[in-house]
Amino acid sequence: MIIEVGNKDYKSIAGEFGISGSGKHAEFWKRLELGYENLRQLYFSIYGHLEDAEVKFQDLLRSIISAYLSRSADLKKRDLSKKPDWFLSNDLVGMSLYVDRFAGSIAQMEGKLAYMDELGVNFLHLMPLFESPQGESDGGYAVSDFRKVDERFGTLEELSSLRKKMHDEGMYLMLDIVLNHTSHRHEWAEKAKSGEKKYQDYFYMYDNRWIPNQFEAAMPEIFPESSPGNFTWSEDCQKWVMTVFHNYQWDLNYRNPEVLREMLDNILFYANLGVDLIRIDAPAFIWKETGTSCQNLPQAHSLLQLIKQAVQIASPGMAILGEAIVAPNFIMEYFGKGDRAGKECDFAYNATQMALQWDMLASGDTRVMLEAQPILQQKPQGTSWISYTRCHDDIGLGYDDWMISKAGKDPYMHRSFLKNYFSGSFPGSPSRGALFSSNPKTGDARISGSLASLCGLEAALYAKDAYQVALSIQKILLMQAFSIFQGGLPMLYYGDELGYLNDYTFQHDPAKSYDNRWMHRPINDWEKAAERHTEGTVEERVFSGLKQLIQIRKSLPAISDNSNIRWMNPHNIHVAGFLREKEDQRIFVVGNYSDKASFLTWYAFKEFGFSPKKLWDHVSKEELSVASDDQYLILEPYGFRILEVLS
Ligand code: GLC
Repeated sequence: MIIEVGNKDYKSIAGEFGISGSGKHAEFWKRLELGYENLRQLYFSIYGHLEDAEVKFQDLLRSIISAYLSRSADLKKRDLSKKPDWFLSNDLVGMSLYVDRFAGSIAQMEGKLAYMDELGVNFLHLMPLFESPQGESDGGYAVSDFRKVDERFGTLEELSSLRKKMHDEGMYLMLDIVLNHTSHRHEWAEKAKSGEKKYQDYFYMYDNRWIPNQFEAAMPEIFPESSPGNFTWSEDCQKWVMTVFHNYQWDLNYRNPEVLREMLDNILFYANLGVDLIRIDAPAFIWKETGTSCQNLPQAHSLLQLIKQAVQIASPGMAILGEAIVAPNFIMEYFGKGDRAGKECDFAYNATQMALQWDMLASGDTRVMLEAQPILQQKPQGTSWISYTRCHDDIGLGYDDWMISKAGKDPYMHRSFLKNYFSGSFPGSPSRGALFSSNPKTGDARISGSLASLCGLEAALYAKDAYQVALSIQKILLMQAFSIFQGGLPMLYYGDELGYLNDYTFQHDPAKSYDNRWMHRPINDWEKAAERHTEGTVEERVFSGLKQLIQIRKSLPAISDNSNIRWMNPHNIHVAGFLREKEDQRIFVVGNYSDKASFLTWYAFKEFGFSPKKLWDHVSKEELSVASDDQYLILEPYGFRILEVLS
C-alpha cells in the first residue's frame, strides 16, 4: 500500500501544544515548516508499509514538539546564537575521557577544567555516563537506563551543573547515545525476558536457529574472541537474541517504530541536557537484513537522516557525530549522499586517516595514505571530521586492499607486517601494542595499545635509551600534529597528553581481562600529571609539545575545516605534506615518517599554482627561504614543520 506523502497536519499537531507561526515559537515554527516534509518522507520511506504509520508518525512529531517545549530558555538562546558552521572552527580542540578514570567523578571534573584550559582543550567527550551493569558494561556502552547517570559517576544534577560551568567557560560538551543496543538488564530487555510480547518486539528474538542461521551466514563477527557469533540464547525466555557486540548487548529492532520513537526521545533528552555534539555509537549496525553484512544498509542512513532532521527542528544547536568505523567509501556515506549530501551526520570519525597515519609510522612510507585521499576529500562542505590519533577503542586497519596494492605492496603481507610491528613481534619494532579481536577464520586483527607505547616510549624507557625516548616523543608529536592540522575537530585522548604507557592491570580484573582495550584506558595519576611542570620530564616534553601545537592551531584560521586541504606529491615517499588555505593565509604542514633524516625538494612547495619564497616555521619559530629545485628542506627523523607562507 502506498501512502500519499503530504504535509496536511503538522499545523494542527503543533496547535495541540498551543504553537503557532507567530509569537515566541516563531523560530521553531520556521524550522518545523522547513523540515516537516523531509521528516515525513524519511519516516514513510521506512515505515510507510505499516498500517498505523500515520498514527505513529504523528506520535513522533508530538515527541519532537514536546522536547522542544521542555528545552530550557538558555539552550534555546544558545541554539540561535550558534552559527551553522560553529563546529568547523580552528578554535576547537577536544579531549575524550572517562570521568571516573580521569577525575574520579562528575563532581570532581569541575575542578579539572583549569587543566583543560592550560592545555588548550575546550571540548570534552565524556565517555558513557549512564547506568550500565558493572562487570557487563563494555566501558559504559551497554546501557541499562538511558536517563539515569550511573552512581559510580554521580548524578544527573551534577552533570547538568558541569555542563553549565563548561558553557559559561566557553567549552563544549559531547556525550554518547548508544543507539544500536541496550544492556540485557535494561527494563525493555527484562520485560522481554519475562515474556512481554510488546518488548520482545523491541529486539530481534527467535524461537529457533532458523532465522539466526540465515543472518549469521553473511554477518561478520565483531568480537570473535570474547563474544563469537551474533546471537545469544536467553534461558529466561527461551529465545535466540541478536547480540552483535557482546552477548550482554541486545540489538534494538528499528523495524519497530516504537523503538525509534523511544530512542529519539532519549536523544532529545540528551539535547536538553545541553549536549553540543552527540556521538551516535555504532550507527552502521542499526538496520539488519538477512543476506547482508547488516552494516551500512540504506535504512540505517534514512534513520540517521531522520534523526538529524528531528534534532534540527527541536534542538538545532546540537550537532551529530556518526561513529561509523567502516571502510572509507562507507564512512563517506554517513555525511549523506546525492541530494542528501550534508544532511545526515555533521561529523564522522576519520578512522581511515587515523589508521593510515599508523600505517605510515610503521612503514615509513606515505603512499598508501595518499591513495585514500581522493575518497576522503569528497566530504561535503559544512561537515567535518573527528580527527584523532588514539581513542578508547582499538585501531582497525579498515582501509581497502586496493589502496595497499596501488602503493605497490601485497595487502596480506603488508597487514601482517603492521600487526607484527605494532604488537612488537616484528624484529626491531619499538612498538608495544597487542592484537585485539584476532579472528583465526579470517586472519583479521585490530590493535590495542596507548599512543606512547605504540610509538616506542615504553620500550625506550625500559631500555633507558635516551635517544629512543626522544625519538618516541617526536613520533607522538608528529602523529598529533597531523591530527590537529589536517582538518576536522581534533579529539585528543586523555593520558596521551602526558605520555601514558600501557596499563596491564586490567588482566587481573575478570570484568575487563577479556578485553585488552583496557590496556589503553588509564587511571590518571595526578602526581604524574604534576610532572608536566618539571622541565625535561617525559610528561613535560609531551605536554608542552602538544600545548604548543594547540596554540598554533588556534592562531591559524586556515586550519578551520573548510575542506581546504591539498596533499603534496610524494617527491620523497617518507614525507607527508599538505597545504591548507583560507583567504590570504597559506599553511604547509610537512612531516617525516622515517627514522632517518629525509630530504624534500623545494619543488614540492611549488606545485600549487604559486611559488612561495619565504616561510615561517611556527614550531621552531624561524624563517626559511625557499631555495631552488635542486636543493632540499631537511627534516629530522620524525620531524615536522608547520610553515606559513610569508611571501
Ligand atoms: C563503539 C564503541 C565501543 C563499543 C561498541 C559497542 O564502537 O566505541 O567501545 O564496544 O561501540 O557499543
